[in-house]
Amino acid sequence: MSKVLISKNIPAIANELLKKAGFTPETLNSDVSLSSLDPLQLQEVVGIISMLADPIDDQFLEKTPQLKVISNYAVGFNNLDLVALQKRNILVGNTPEVLTEATAELTVGLLLMSMRNLTLANRAVYDGSWQGFRPLDFLGPTLFRKKVGIMGFGRIGKKVGEILHFGFQNPISIINRGDEKNQQATRDINYPLHIFNEDEFLKDLDILILNSPLNESTHNWLNENRLQKLKTTATIINTGRGDLVDEEALVRFLKKHPDLRYGTDVMKVEPLPTTHEFTRLANVTLLPHIGSASIEAREAMAVICAKNIIMGINEGRVFKGPLK
Ligand code: DGY
Repeated sequence: MSKVLISKNIPAIANELLKKAGFTPETLNSDVSLSSLDPLQLQEVVGIISMLADPIDDQFLEKTPQLKVISNYAVGFNNLDLVALQKRNILVGNTPEVLTEATAELTVGLLLMSMRNLTLANRAVYDGSWQGFRPLDFLGPTLFRKKVGIMGFGRIGKKVGEILHFGFQNPISIINRGDEKNQQATRDINYPLHIFNEDEFLKDLDILILNSPLNESTHNWLNENRLQKLKTTATIINTGRGDLVDEEALVRFLKKHPDLRYGTDVMKVEPLPTTHEFTRLANVTLLPHIGSASIEAREAMAVICAKNIIMGINEGRVFKGPLK
């Protein structure tokens, strides 16, 4: 009874907390997806710890008559149909705050990987193509003092700005979104922020960082039109979502402008097919969606996910969530 499904292996603390609270957690085998389960297997499930790759929509919810809480193992929740969940009075939890630092530090790491050609340099050591010290090999622009624009200035964007301002003396800018939103953006930060209209913002940048959540207004935000406004020597970093970018348009720009760089931890299709054009371009740096993959963050996410289930079922409210 009180069955809770966990769609992928997560740190053991979640199971321990759930068991202690009287639930029966069950983790799916790695080759089984949540959406492939039949109604019989989902019949008694009261809570689910889901991943970003699990679509939780009307079709899926038809199979879960007892479900009370969806606890998403992510800060993002673009895999969830919130309307369908609300309609059925199912509580929704996510894991904000605990992965801010992990994702922000990964963003800066990826930025350095991309600008200083760290992947290509690292590969050369292993594949035998390193020719010894040669002053013109693996050159890339310095990160220090470059103009950085952050699209998506929530918790993670703010933390990225902080690391870059204090660590690398980068001026940080965002897009003007009106007085109220601008005031919100400057709240809780201890460094100067430059606010530009979108056109000025794009054309002035050396580095564009995408940290926005995915929604209707941000889908394919970095499109042909906006790409055209960027410097052809800019570095674009994406640790938000693959769908923030029109990947086909970006590939065309990357092919045409070898000094344009793209470093991304997220793609439209994950895992990225190894035949994707991105894998063939020297000005692209790819990581496998590891923004929150610090030991501390993943452990804390597991605790929040378990608490969301326990509180959701016992008290009718989640510990942390976009829908409480
Ligand atoms: C999130 O939490 O939304 C990340 O993309 C997954 O780590």
